[in-house]
Amino acid sequence: MSGTPDGSYMPEKLPYWAGDGIDPTVPSLARMYDYSLGGGNNFAVDRELAEAYQKRWPHMFHAARSNRAFLRRVVGYLLDQGVRQFLDIGSGIPTAGNVHEVIIDAGAANDVQLIYVDIDPIALIMSHRLLTDVGWAHAVRGDASNIDGILTDPEVTERLDFTRPVAVLMLLMLHAVPGPAQSLLAGLPERLSVGSYLAVSNSAPSDSYPPDELAEWLAMGARTVTPTVARTSAEIAAFFDGFELVEPGLVPLPLWRPEPGQETTSFWYDAVGGVSVKL
Ligand SMILES: C[S@@+](CC[C@H](N)C(=O)[O-])C[C@H]1O[C@@H](n2cnc3c(N)ncnc32)[C@H](O)[C@@H]1O
Repeated sequence: MSGTPDGSYMPEKLPYWAGDGIDPTVPSLARMYDYSLGGGNNFAVDRELAEAYQKRWPHMFHAARSNRAFLRRVVGYLLDQGVRQFLDIGSGIPTAGNVHEVIIDAGAANDVQLIYVDIDPIALIMSHRLLTDVGWAHAVRGDASNIDGILTDPEVTERLDFTRPVAVLMLLMLHAVPGPAQSLLAGLPERLSVGSYLAVSNSAPSDSYPPDELAEWLAMGARTVTPTVARTSAEIAAFFDGFELVEPGLVPLPLWRPEPGQETTSFWYDAVGGVSVKL
């Protein structure tokens, strides 16, 4: 938004990369996260709300980076387990450190298939652009509240063989998907073969925020295109029903298999993550 002499506001002019059908007056989680990570694919409304979060909870930008570090360790772990098919749901705008970059850095690009799925049109536009020359990675639009729709999307079934292990990643995105944790991913384990994985990271403010702080958190989240849902760690654990959590279980993000020299004592403990396997 930009100010006019009479004090009213004009919608921000969309940048050339934005495409059609995007409302620049409503903040998007994908673009706010991009901003938090230092990316440039965001609008003024996204920056304003991201800064408001950061002012209220000064660890927010650090939290975004902490989640990206978790993502890197998780993908490295899954590659070590021999997984070569990845379905990254709520993949976001491919700001530095996305899944395909971790795979390239690990030298595993030759035999991997990766599908990025996001509900946000800009995440899709930017993913398509970035992946033009990456034949083994593709991006499709999908809604995590319809997991069946994603698993049966022809672009997904054409590239992923669900008779072999697939790693499903849902990182820092389920707090934007309403509904009881027990039913959101119902049916997912049955659709995956033995040896498949589910990795989840999720904000868990209800564990520690007092009610008024939680209400503030929810009110800010309600301003985005994908309003925020608060869940406790116990509720988040239900996402893994039908899978077996690998060590160390569902833990604050910095405590999940930290690499030597990596932070483990972060004060930022209001997001948790875990990786599980289908046995
Ligand atoms: C905070 S970003 C996380 C990006 C990435 N997974 C990571 O961990 O670095 C959350 C993403 O989830 C996407 N998202 C929100 N609701 C969704 C839904 N119902 N289905 C698919 N994607 C969704 C947002 O558009 C955003 O790109």
